[in-house]
Amino acid sequence: MTVYAIIGGTGLTQLEGLTLDESLRINTPYGAPSADILKGHYAGREVLFLARHGHPHRIPPHQVNYRANIWALKHAGAEAILAVNAVGGIHSAMGSGHLCVPHQIVDYTWGREHTFFEGSLEAVTHIDFSYPYDEALRQQLISALRQHGYAHSDQGVYACTQGPRLETAGEIVRLERDGCDIVGMTAMPEAALAREQDLAYACLALVVNPAAGKVTGVITMAEIEQALHEGIGRVKAVLATVLAG
Ligand code: HPA
Repeated sequence: MTVYAIIGGTGLTQLEGLTLDESLRINTPYGAPSADILKGHYAGREVLFLARHGHPHRIPPHQVNYRANIWALKHAGAEAILAVNAVGGIHSAMGSGHLCVPHQIVDYTWGREHTFFEGSLEAVTHIDFSYPYDEALRQQLISALRQHGYAHSDQGVYACTQGPRLETAGEIVRLERDGCDIVGMTAMPEAALAREQDLAYACLALVVNPAAGKVTGVITMAEIEQALHEGIGRVKAVLATVLAG
């Protein structure tokens, strides 16, 4: 049976219903992961859970130790990663509360430790990253979304920005021109590092605000928190269905 790991993003720092067997404090060659990895049972199967921003939520997106997180999950036995990400909606279909299983990424981040393949290498290694998400895992998420009847998109291009500030309206115009549908700060380098470690990886993105300039006025933390509060139950239900499948 595949061992799944869930990387919980903003709004998902713990998973109720996880029967906790062990809390793993793993030190890695890259430093400490964001939090202890919770190992337990969820929906009847073994699962690992890691809070991307720490527990409590305290690590901003550009300071997450993505390498330590992926390395620790791999060494804890993970084979497939379900990543949960809160995002802004760029495409008109991506209103607040919408769920999206992206199929592509455009990476606008900079200065993050983004590879395992550096330092004293035996050979230079280039992973194929044409299709950044694992298609079989994406289909499991999509099938669970359909079973629940939740409004969702089966695909989308995820623009990953550096943060922690939100974008300017002008930047969102550019991302839209680049073909991006949603915008967040945590897809990368997480997805690429998972590929480097040969882990299947897919993302369930919850839209928590219209991206900058998509509605009149500014984006408030209060509206983001409200949308997270309203949407996170659906995210958990989808994850439970995938794990039970
Ligand atoms: N931009 C970037 N990251 C985000 C947003 C956004 O509008 N909303 C939630 N995460």
